[in-house]
Amino acid sequence: MTQDELKLVVAQAAIAYVVEGEIVGVGTGSTANFFIDELAKIKHKVKAAVASSEVTAARLRSHGITVLDLNEVTSMPVYIDGADEITPQGAMIKGGGAALTREKIVASVAEKFVCIADGSKLVDVLGKFPLPVEVIPMSHAVVARKLNALGGEARLRMKDGEPLLTDNGNMILDVHGMQILDPLTMEAEINNIVGVVTVGLFARQGANVCLLGTAEGVKTLQ
Ligand code: A5P
Repeated sequence: MTQDELKLVVAQAAIAYVVEGEIVGVGTGSTANFFIDELAKIKHKVKAAVASSEVTAARLRSHGITVLDLNEVTSMPVYIDGADEITPQGAMIKGGGAALTREKIVASVAEKFVCIADGSKLVDVLGKFPLPVEVIPMSHAVVARKLNALGGEARLRMKDGEPLLTDNGNMILDVHGMQILDPLTMEAEINNIVGVVTVGLFARQGANVCLLGTAEGVKTLQ
């Protein structure tokens, strides 16, 4: 199976977690895109969606799915999204698509986080994938120095020769060379750096269920 086929099968498996008549939180990225296309097939069964990025909102709307502002929403049974890395315990690195802040916010409202990923994302120790950190633009240099002091090498994410700007108008530092042995502590430590908006470590708010696409089929980690 190709990586895209693995993403498709987990996206299809995630449909079983969508609660009929309720609001569904939707992530960002190539796996989430497969999920959105599957969700479109049962759109009459869901009340509406909340999107974790402008790109996801546009894709949901293109399928005729109502997208709500999170401020209008008080309950959401499930949030479904991909990950860049995930441990068997459900801690994740996210933000490869620069949507980490909205992803963390929307996920915080959901009762359950269902992660959908191809099997290559499963790791024992997080950190091979550079850890994304969203920062207030005026602070990127000072935050980079503090992240480097934690043992990483922070690089400003660029796009077309300019610093990439998130949907929130902030910048992203990608921290290379981290070996994240204690994700909970590292998440709290980076959250405490002034200038950091969000760290793409989802440990306190990890996945409750992970649907992993493998050659042997979809594996469910709880
Ligand atoms: C978006 O900011 C990310 O958190 C994505 O969820 C993550 O990068 C996974 O993306 P893919 O599904 O494209 O691998």
